[in-house]
Amino acid sequence: MAYRRTVEEFVTERAGAELGVVFAAIAVASQGIERQIRLAGLSDVYGAFGAVNVQGEQQQKLDVYANDELIAQLGKVKSVAAVVSEEDEGPVMFDHPGAEFAVIFDPLDGSSNIDVNVNVGTIFSIARVSGDVVESVLKPGTEQIAAGYVVYGPSTVMVIAFGDKDGVAGFTLDAEGRFVLTSESMTMPPQGPYYSANEANAASWPVAYQEFVKTLVSEGLAGKAYSARYIGSLVADFHRTLLKGGVFLYPPTEKAPTGKLRLLYEARPLALIAEKAGGAAVNGATRILDLKAEGIHERTSLIVGSKAEVEALNRLVMGAAK
Ligand code: AHG
Ligand code: MN
Ligand code: MN
Repeated sequence: MAYRRTVEEFVTERAGAELGVVFAAIAVASQGIERQIRLAGLSDVYGAFGAVNVQGEQQQKLDVYANDELIAQLGKVKSVAAVVSEEDEGPVMFDHPGAEFAVIFDPLDGSSNIDVNVNVGTIFSIARVSGDVVESVLKPGTEQIAAGYVVYGPSTVMVIAFGDKDGVAGFTLDAEGRFVLTSESMTMPPQGPYYSANEANAASWPVAYQEFVKTLVSEGLAGKAYSARYIGSLVADFHRTLLKGGVFLYPPTEKAPTGKLRLLYEARPLALIAEKAGGAAVNGATRILDLKAEGIHERTSLIVGSKAEVEALNRLVMGAAK
């Protein structure tokens, strides 16, 4: 069987050894997280950690483990100046003078699904640091050097994209614990059979979103009928959307009027991957990658997926705004 390149080899070839080493660290951390998830039932890593994070959310033990592991592995990489994590209030600075990268991540996405053996993930974005770290990571998503996610499941897959290059690549964790190339060029179908939303919030969505989903259910779009899929782990709902097409939407709600998902380490990395795969990502009216962030934990509404659905909803939201 032909040799499969590891994610570090692939990134080194495409974007240089400096970035390759950062991906190698993320791969090692992800492999450790996958092992903890796989063996969680045999050890004491299920359940709440007993602390609340900066988001005001109960931290799960695996949230803390994943965060610690990513910080430990990335802290060894001399070209990484700092990390910004969903789990920490501010950047975690490393003593790496002149380091050029910052890594921004959601260490464990889908925490509510950890204890029920459903897919969870890690989402990350890599930014170039020039001067102040927070300033650097708040720049628009179009400045991302690279972005990716790992979805832990029956198989564990890492999907990545580069800010300045075309293409989306997929790597599968092999029996030796390496992420090896399994999809060299992933593209999102132009339209999909699925829409994905937490419809328990529908009554509090802006009307344009309610109309959009009602229309998908009753008439479909461009002659295609739709089915609903909602896993509740963004990374898994996104991965299915990338492979099968369709749209994931987390609109503004009464509880989260500016959106629930985080711009820097959920929406932006996935928006880069979606666009590089031929899809689209907006907050309703505006392209996610154009949004400037005011703070590292800023939240946003997110509509991401195939062009047909995202553009149709974007037109509705813009129309409603007139
Ligand atoms: P996290 O576990 O990192 O806090 O993220 C959870 C997010 C995301 O994974 C998912 O799409 C969303 O929360 C689900 O929210 P609801 O339970 O409100 O649908
Ligand atoms: Mn998350
Ligand atoms: Mn998380």
